[in-house]
Amino acid sequence: MRVLLTGAEGQLGRCFSDRAGDLLEVLATDRKQLDITDIDAVQKIINDFNPDAIVNAAAYTAVDKAESDYDAAYAINCHAVKNLASQASKLNIPFIHVSTDYVFNGESKIAYNESDECDPKSVYGATKRAGELEALQSPKGIVIRTSWVFSEYGNNFVKTMLRLGVQRDALSIVGDQYGCPTYAGDLAQAILTMLATPNFMPGLYHCSGDESVSWYQFAQSIFNTAHASASYPRIPVLSSITTDEYPTPAARPRYSVMNTNKLNAAGIAPGDWKKQLERVIPKILKEVSV
Ligand SMILES: NC(=O)c1ccc[n+]([C@@H]2O[C@H](COP(=O)([O-])OP(=O)(O)OC[C@H]3O[C@@H](n4cnc5c(N)ncnc54)[C@H](OP(=O)(O)O)[C@@H]3O)[C@@H](O)[C@H]2O)c1
Repeated sequence: MRVLLTGAEGQLGRCFSDRAGDLLEVLATDRKQLDITDIDAVQKIINDFNPDAIVNAAAYTAVDKAESDYDAAYAINCHAVKNLASQASKLNIPFIHVSTDYVFNGESKIAYNESDECDPKSVYGATKRAGELEALQSPKGIVIRTSWVFSEYGNNFVKTMLRLGVQRDALSIVGDQYGCPTYAGDLAQAILTMLATPNFMPGLYHCSGDESVSWYQFAQSIFNTAHASASYPRIPVLSSITTDEYPTPAARPRYSVMNTNKLNAAGIAPGDWKKQLERVIPKILKEVSV
């Protein structure tokens, strides 16, 4: 199976390439090789490679910057997705696209289902929601909503915590926003399983790690794991603060836990993010000087 992968240098893209193995012929393109907003370039690469599936791991993910950069965020997260979906439709091939928990307003008290109403509170969330709707226009379109992604690659909360933890004695972390951390490798594996399953049902799926926490609790897990399993010198003093005490340009959902039963029923279980933290942290610590 020939798979066109976009955004290959991002967290998901790199984890996908690592796991694709010999079973798939992956054309892994980063932004330099294929800017997904370049309609002609997308057309050319698809004509030349003639893929059997497209996996879109490219996205505008700078959540706060998007607030003042709507056009670029929309071009990447929606307009380019529409074009990829339409190319996939023409070839009648699966189009796997990734979205976010930020499509929800965060006012729920129970885990969000795929059918729950979307009400994004940020430009990032709004452009991702618009992209979801475009991706789902493709007859073999699959949209996977995920949350709080971390990995050994790129920028993420785990890396930020480990870096700040060696620089500061104390850290204040938001304790009233809840979600499910997700290892990008588990997300990549879910996509590979979808590709390997004949006639995997198109549609919208939630895919996130198995246990919900606040950012403060996530930070506690990160430092405890680093201290127990790797050569991390000490744990900074952590204090829990409110969202109001940590204002950001983009609003975040207070609660964005997603129900993953639909994906589970399709044979893909949520990943054990704490176990994955134990594997990822030693890799990150090779880069972060402690
Ligand atoms: N990270 C999270 O916590 C999180 C949470 C929920 C959902 N998601 C979603 O999960 C997916 C994967 O996220 P991720 O964490 O892997 O993101 P990431 O690490 O930021 O990777 C995104 C990649 O897309 C590339 N890209 C941006 N614009 C592009 C363009 N015009 N053409 C081609 N490539 C382009 C970026 O390249 P540059 O570096 O050059 O810009 C980057 O390599 C995204 O759809 C994201 O919205 C992420």
